[in-house]
Amino acid sequence: MTSQDLMKQQAAAAALEHLEEGGLVGVGTGSTVNFFIDGLAKMRSRIAGAVSSSEASTRRLRAQGIPVLDLNEAGELEVYVDGADEATRRLHLVKGGGGALTREKIVAAASRRFVCIVDEQKLVERLGRFPLPVEVIPMARGHVARQLARLGGEPVWREGFVTDNGNHILDVRGLEIADPVALEGEINQVAGVVTVGLFARRPADVLLVGTSTGVVTLTRDA
Ligand code: A5P
Repeated sequence: MTSQDLMKQQAAAAALEHLEEGGLVGVGTGSTVNFFIDGLAKMRSRIAGAVSSSEASTRRLRAQGIPVLDLNEAGELEVYVDGADEATRRLHLVKGGGGALTREKIVAAASRRFVCIVDEQKLVERLGRFPLPVEVIPMARGHVARQLARLGGEPVWREGFVTDNGNHILDVRGLEIADPVALEGEINQVAGVVTVGLFARRPADVLLVGTSTGVVTLTRDA
């Protein structure tokens, strides 16, 4: 295992301590979350089940014997655990490197607490180095790309990739993300955008950062 994987695994293990006994847990997507699902499997009798943010996580949860519920049946969740591609100390995130951003944003919005798990390489002073994913309705791809270019970005179509919702992804480089809350609202207003991978209006509540010397916990109230 690489040292980065070890840090992801440590952050994922720390997130297990944030779960409610007998409750339902929202589960995100990605390699860090895969470590979390593997840890969850070892304590599956202590949770009622999971609500998943992607087909990939659903498959992994079910393979581990963890019941997966539809969000509409589950109602509001106590806690959502997910990774990120970039995170700041204000707990603003860029997500969607794996293309699951829309369902991730929905499950995060439906959860009282969002526990984000990352390794230290994801912690940044300002968001924007990682290309910002935007999920778009396929027929709007060109229109949305032109609007993103007007905002100063360089959108690139993630060719060959179709989201779980049947849509396309534009990865946007070169954006100055000085105000993540404002930019999230602005991009989400463009006709044809399903959602942008900025998680600033509903940021994480707890950020667990795996580092070479252990897990650092950052909270929104701090
Ligand atoms: C999935 O769409 C993403 O939002 C992931 O949460 C993000 O890409 C983090 O993935 P890793 O844990 O694999 O870095």
